[in-house]
Amino acid sequence: MLSSYTAVIGAFLLSRVATWNTDVHNQIGFMAESFLTSSTTSVLQHILEPEYNGSIGRAAAWADAYAHTDEGRFSYQWHWIDSHDDPPHTCNLSYTHDCSKGGCIVSAIANQTKILQGCVADVKEGILQKGSNTTCSYALKWVSHFLGDIAQPLHASGRAAGGNFVNVTFNNRPTELHAVWDGLLPYADSGVSRFSNLSIDPFFSGLLSRIENDQFYEAPYMWLLCTDPSTPTECATRWAHESNIWTCDYVYRDIDNSTDLARSGYARGAFPIIELQISKSAVRLGAWLNNVVEGSIHYTSEQVEL
Ligand SMILES: *[C@@H]1O[C@H](CO)[C@@H](O)[C@H](O)[C@H]1NC(C)=O
Ligand SMILES: *[C@@H]1O[C@H](CO)[C@@H](O)[C@H](O)[C@H]1NC(C)=O
Ligand SMILES: *[C@@H]1O[C@H](CO)[C@@H](O)[C@H](O)[C@H]1NC(C)=O
Ligand SMILES: *[C@@H]1O[C@H](CO)[C@@H](O)[C@H](O)[C@H]1NC(C)=O
Ligand SMILES: *[C@@H]1O[C@H](CO)[C@@H](O)[C@H](O)[C@H]1NC(C)=O
Ligand SMILES: *[C@@H]1O[C@H](CO)[C@@H](O)[C@H](O)[C@H]1NC(C)=O
Ligand SMILES: *[C@@H]1O[C@H](CO)[C@@H](O)[C@H](O)[C@H]1NC(C)=O
Repeated sequence: MLSSYTAVIGAFLLSRVATWNTDVHNQIGFMAESFLTSSTTSVLQHILEPEYNGSIGRAAAWADAYAHTDEGRFSYQWHWIDSHDDPPHTCNLSYTHDCSKGGCIVSAIANQTKILQGCVADVKEGILQKGSNTTCSYALKWVSHFLGDIAQPLHASGRAAGGNFVNVTFNNRPTELHAVWDGLLPYADSGVSRFSNLSIDPFFSGLLSRIENDQFYEAPYMWLLCTDPSTPTECATRWAHESNIWTCDYVYRDIDNSTDLARSGYARGAFPIIELQISKSAVRLGAWLNNVVEGSIHYTSEQVEL
């Protein structure tokens, strides 16, 4: 059907799937770009390699490809945190208890954010230009990717390896629950079979308008209650916890392998959750990067723009 989808299925056959589909990551990045201040945009341009043309949207999918290389294999498990709970009956997530040795999405966000802070200082001092330091470009690409993944409910759930081993049917096709949330639901919700990896898709521009017009059942400023990059473990744990709660409140409810999730009403009920989680992650990514860049130049909370 489409290259990213095939790649995801291929990855599933080898092991667990690692992510929102790559094009969904691109789109979350494009949404986040609209929240960046001009100084953030210009600093990030120096951190990224020239091939991304200063776009975190274009760069946001890199982490998946890298995780599937021999060199990047160590970062594979950084894409999720495995809770030890039993959705839909009980949900619970704890950083100290659930983050595996070798890292998880929460520790990776904390670690890469700290690295990125040093990189921003290097750009401001003129030491870093044109993506010449891969530690720095990787840190930015990981942060841009993981702030997306942490909002996908099944990236904060250990049951059946994040739903990878839960067989379901979607539109007459056998698949598994993780793939449904990573890509099939966003595609079904938007009515397309893939999104651009170069520019924002109308579905995601529509989410931006809803954010600007405060048309979610939660006010977007509430999504920013924890966006201080100096407490990254605390914030990332909160975001993961929010995602984990959805696995009890919706994701594992009415999962029955004899019904087609695209037609049973499950997908329709999931769309608002997908839209909320994607929007939240884009707003947070924008604010997070602004705070990382402007934190060192006497940032005040009034400067956060939505
Ligand atoms: C690169 O970014 C600049 C500024 O956003 C834009 O004007 C230009 O069209 C972009 N180039 C490509 C090749 O996408
Ligand atoms: C949640 O996990 C923490 C840490 O593992 C544990 O102390 C607590 O009892 C758990 N709560 C529930 C409701 O299971
Ligand atoms: C932090 O990131 C660096 C650079 O990618 C990596 O070498 C290191 O293992 C990471 N540490 C943790 C605790 O994740
Ligand atoms: C790349 O940036 C990191 C973080 O600022 C720094 O520790 C490292 O020394 C830099 N590497 C090179 C080769 O400049
Ligand atoms: C799910 O499907 C796979 C491949 O189709 C199969 O190997 C596996 O046993 C199934 N798992 C369950 C729990 O039914
Ligand atoms: C972007 O999408 C095009 C069209 O599907 C594909 O050929 C290309 O490989 C993608 N680029 C990246 C960097 O994923
Ligand atoms: C469907 O679920 C039932 C009970 O959960 C299980 O026994 C059966 O093997 C499953 N069938 C498939 C095709 O996964």
